[in-house]
Amino acid sequence: MRSHYCGTISTAHDGDQVEVCGWVHRRRDHGGVIFLDIRDRTGIVQVVFDPDTRESFATADRVRNEYVLRATGKVRPRPEGTVNPDMPTGEIEVLGHELTILNSAQTPPFQLDEHSEAGEDVRLRFRYMDLRRPEMQEKMQMRAAISSRVRNYLEADGYWEIETPTLSRATPEGARDYLVPSRTHPGEFFALPQSPQVYKQLLMMSGMDRYYQIARCYRDEDLRADRQPEFTQIDIEASFVSAEQVMALTEGMLKEVFNDLLDVALPDFPVLTWDEAMRDFGSDRPDLRNPLRLVDIADVMQSVEFKVFNGPANDPKGRVVALRAPGGAELSRKVIDDYTSFVGRYGARGLAYIKINDMAAGADGLQSPILKFLPEEVTQQVLTRVGAQTGDLVFFGADKSGVVNDAMGALRNELGRDLGLLEMDFAPCWVVDWPMFAEGRDGTLSAEHHPFTQPIGSPEALLADPLAAKAAAYDVVLNGYELGGGSLRIHDTTMQSAVFEALRMGQEAQSKFGFLLDALQYGCPPHGGIALGLDRLVMLMTDSASIRDVIAFPKTQTASCLMMAAPSPVDEQQLRDLHIRLRKSEGQ
Ligand code: AMO
Ligand code: AMP
Repeated sequence: MRSHYCGTISTAHDGDQVEVCGWVHRRRDHGGVIFLDIRDRTGIVQVVFDPDTRESFATADRVRNEYVLRATGKVRPRPEGTVNPDMPTGEIEVLGHELTILNSAQTPPFQLDEHSEAGEDVRLRFRYMDLRRPEMQEKMQMRAAISSRVRNYLEADGYWEIETPTLSRATPEGARDYLVPSRTHPGEFFALPQSPQVYKQLLMMSGMDRYYQIARCYRDEDLRADRQPEFTQIDIEASFVSAEQVMALTEGMLKEVFNDLLDVALPDFPVLTWDEAMRDFGSDRPDLRNPLRLVDIADVMQSVEFKVFNGPANDPKGRVVALRAPGGAELSRKVIDDYTSFVGRYGARGLAYIKINDMAAGADGLQSPILKFLPEEVTQQVLTRVGAQTGDLVFFGADKSGVVNDAMGALRNELGRDLGLLEMDFAPCWVVDWPMFAEGRDGTLSAEHHPFTQPIGSPEALLADPLAAKAAAYDVVLNGYELGGGSLRIHDTTMQSAVFEALRMGQEAQSKFGFLLDALQYGCPPHGGIALGLDRLVMLMTDSASIRDVIAFPKTQTASCLMMAAPSPVDEQQLRDLHIRLRKSEGQ
């Protein structure tokens, strides 16, 4: 049906007879001559019809945007003055002589070019139209290319792709499960996997040695721009490896993918400990494109009278930090108020600041509502410590460490963007030496990664002081996004039981993970691995605002599909077959 793809035709085809198929991107009638821009996934070519070819001219006159056509014609250079340098095929056009309408189309619900300002709802409802846009096609192509490079890289290193079930049991990754009712086992449910974690460990116990899978995962959690209920992991596991080996494999893979597909040479990934990351950035996924750092000042604030600062400065769970905003003295009162409400969203009760109008003028060169609460030498000591200069502004955060880290870490990101401070396109890093557990508000523990992560130290030490325990875990971070997480795994029963005990999962662990505890006793090799979020990787590599833009058919923020209207009610018979009776919720 077709001899060439539209976007591939060039001056090299001058004089050739070509046949193209595609959609009408644009139709222009220039008094007696009709120009059709015909589009396929490779690009757009201009086909011209003049009245000499009467039948096809009449057909060209009838077509509208998004009609599907087949056009035959002869390639020729565009006449002088009509070359379009912005278009890859802008030097040529096709003088059409045959034109067939393969299908007509209704007026599209939104404009299909880069200028489209259609809201996301309408784009998602008509996703098959949205995906026709060249921008979306490029993203899908990039996604396919990334998966393909990843597969080649891992297979060259002896990794086997092995599929694992999606009808499964609960897999603890910290989110709620999506459940699937069983018809054959009344009252029982499968869970869709939050990750293939347990299966990949079992594959190591099976002697598969090196496994990978481009795996679909399901998590019922609050959605954000970088989270979908259904997403894809590049999931990797290997036996007899060190953490450094898994990290080197991952780093090599990312470098190769960036180099091959974006021609970007990623630097060697710096390795930060979790403590360092929290100290300097207030975050376990620091954006290293941003040069700003949080600077601890609790030591100099311990004896000041200003309660806002001396309280947290003397509280072992408190933190007081300063954050220099270069050039920030220009910020208006309104902008500072906006930042104050911004940090408020993270629990901060205020946002003190000092403007440095003239560093050389001592106290007279400074402007701030808090100067009156601070001895001058304290102020100067702080300004020196943060390296403040004339024209800067220094923000302060004082509260429980968690609040300061969240609020000031987020403010650091915001300032980096707003003040145009980001220094490079891509800044990867590793964050290592994670705490094994985090403490919830009610004092209960949860695993920072998952309960199969290898703690450093003995089971006795772990149980004696679980919050002090570190884990052999590593996260790979890119531009402030958690791109992947992994660890060495527990491979003996005593340690695995100790972790379940610390998590107060004793009985539950036996019933949920008895098979794993059993498997550990039949010759489990030491093993470890990692999983990278493929969607996040594609989002960052295509500079997209959300992972929704790099998933062909994503869900909305409220976890529904607008196009298919899923989820949807099911009929009574289907429920009956599944032994389910719906509970009427209030108001129904
Ligand atoms: P983790 O839970 O850190 O680790 O997930 C690994 C990576 O998957 C991506 N990711 C998501 N992407 C989009 N939407 C989501 N809802 C979502 N949740 C996670 C992130 C994340 O870094 N089994 C372990 C890995 C291991 O230990 O090997 C796991 O799943 O990029
Ligand atoms: P106040 O005495 O509460 O009016 O606060 C004086 C200044 O300190 C104001 O600029 C507040 O925004 C700021 N502030 C109050 N609480 C905090 C806090 N926890 N961390 C940082 N700054 C604060």
